[in-house]
Amino acid sequence: MAKETLRILDERTNADYSVSVNKGTVRAMDLRQIKTGPEDFGLMTYDPAFMNTASCQSAITFIDGDKGILRYRGYPIEQLAEKCTFLEVAYLIVYGELPSEQELRNWVNEITHHTMLHETTKRFLEGFRYDAHPMGMFISTVAALSTVYPESRNVHDREMRKLQIYRLIGKVPTIAAYTYRHSLGFPYVYPDNDLSYSENFMNMLWRMTEPKYDANPALSRALDILFILHADHEQNCSANVMRAVGSSQADPYVSIAAAAAALSGPLHGGANEEVLKMLDEIGSKDRVPAYIDQVKAGHGKLMGFGHRIYKNYDPRARIIKWAADQVFATTGKNPKLEIALELERIALGDEYFVKRKLYPNVDFYSGIIYQALGFKPEMFTVLFAIPRTVGWLAQWQEMLEDPERKIARPRQIYTGYGERNFVPIEKRTVQKSAAGQ
Ligand SMILES: CC(C)(COP(=O)(O)OP(=O)(O)OC[C@H]1O[C@@H](n2cnc3c(N)ncnc32)[C@H](O)[C@@H]1OP(=O)(O)O)[C@@H](O)C(=O)NCCC(=O)NCCS
Repeated sequence: MAKETLRILDERTNADYSVSVNKGTVRAMDLRQIKTGPEDFGLMTYDPAFMNTASCQSAITFIDGDKGILRYRGYPIEQLAEKCTFLEVAYLIVYGELPSEQELRNWVNEITHHTMLHETTKRFLEGFRYDAHPMGMFISTVAALSTVYPESRNVHDREMRKLQIYRLIGKVPTIAAYTYRHSLGFPYVYPDNDLSYSENFMNMLWRMTEPKYDANPALSRALDILFILHADHEQNCSANVMRAVGSSQADPYVSIAAAAAALSGPLHGGANEEVLKMLDEIGSKDRVPAYIDQVKAGHGKLMGFGHRIYKNYDPRARIIKWAADQVFATTGKNPKLEIALELERIALGDEYFVKRKLYPNVDFYSGIIYQALGFKPEMFTVLFAIPRTVGWLAQWQEMLEDPERKIARPRQIYTGYGERNFVPIEKRTVQKSAAGQ
């Protein structure tokens, strides 16, 4: 068997080094020994945006972007979406194994009994302006829970962590539904413990004067599937934030709020909103070829197409497309679907997209479903944050139990001034770079 080492010849000094290779990776700290002299700090790696750096070892989610594979704890996403409920998958992601019947009953029971918000938190939500963005409300309210549960700071106590996990998974749909009701000016609806996770979410969103909410089973199943598909996606931008903030031993509420803030950006959780804008701009099926020509000529991008990791059909997009049909059978077809299908058909047969391995991603169809369910685009990222809370918590827990855990603290390459002497204010001249302030 070939040696699992890398030999490095430093041509600055002619020194020779041997560095271990483990799982296709070298440890950046092993490079520190490579120095030009005793004063040299040692070699570092430079990797803005973590393009080629593994920041942790993780056993939660596996993605093979070339083959279009996504697995949670080893189980293919297609099987989980077909056979499980969202809370069953949540248990798998958090604890590593599918639950037994008894474990699932206890888990569902615990989460169901932590769905209520403290009345002061409800009043806190009422303080937002009528037109506050739901994602800003969601982030702030999750952070505010840190003040309601100060004991959650005890992050090394497993039992305490378990309680916060129940609370967070239980309460995020309540917060999300309250942000929605707030934007419409409707009274908040309390959770109903008789309903499943997604049925209860629908109850808190849409119940009006009826004494008991009767969720449409096709819609609640579709919502459950959407939640399963969005539950985790390994070391993406917000998971990385969760781990970084959590590494300072901040409590899980402020850490989840920080991760949700990362999700709120248009490059992360906001692309499905852009897909809807694009479909609106195209307007009708017959205008699709002209739009594609425009994209190929370098004017704009096909939103919901392409992915940093997937260079094949995003497996989640295929399942969402199927779920869309189930939703439309109940809600009636979203007219934008026809345009989307035509876009996909033409793009997948077009040399430009084939050559660049551009396929529909998860956002291509999710916005169309959300819209058919009656959500405004501003709610889309909040709908993403509910299931992703599960992934963030699993990543956080794994980080806290990692024997190599330390506070996340990258290095930098300093490019500023060397030491210089203080200049009194009367002797300072206006600098070009600061003049526009
Ligand atoms: C997701 C995304 C940011 C990935 O970007 P990336 O991995 O850095 O890929 P690149 O930007 O290097 O793209 C490679 C090539 O494909 C083209 N390309 C990528 N996405 C494209 C799209 N959606 N439409 C048209 N062309 C696209 C690029 O212009 C580039 O072409 P070139 O080689 O001729 O310059 C990118 O595909 C994108 O912006 N997609 C649309 C937004 C979206 O749907 N985001 C949600 C992601 S889940």
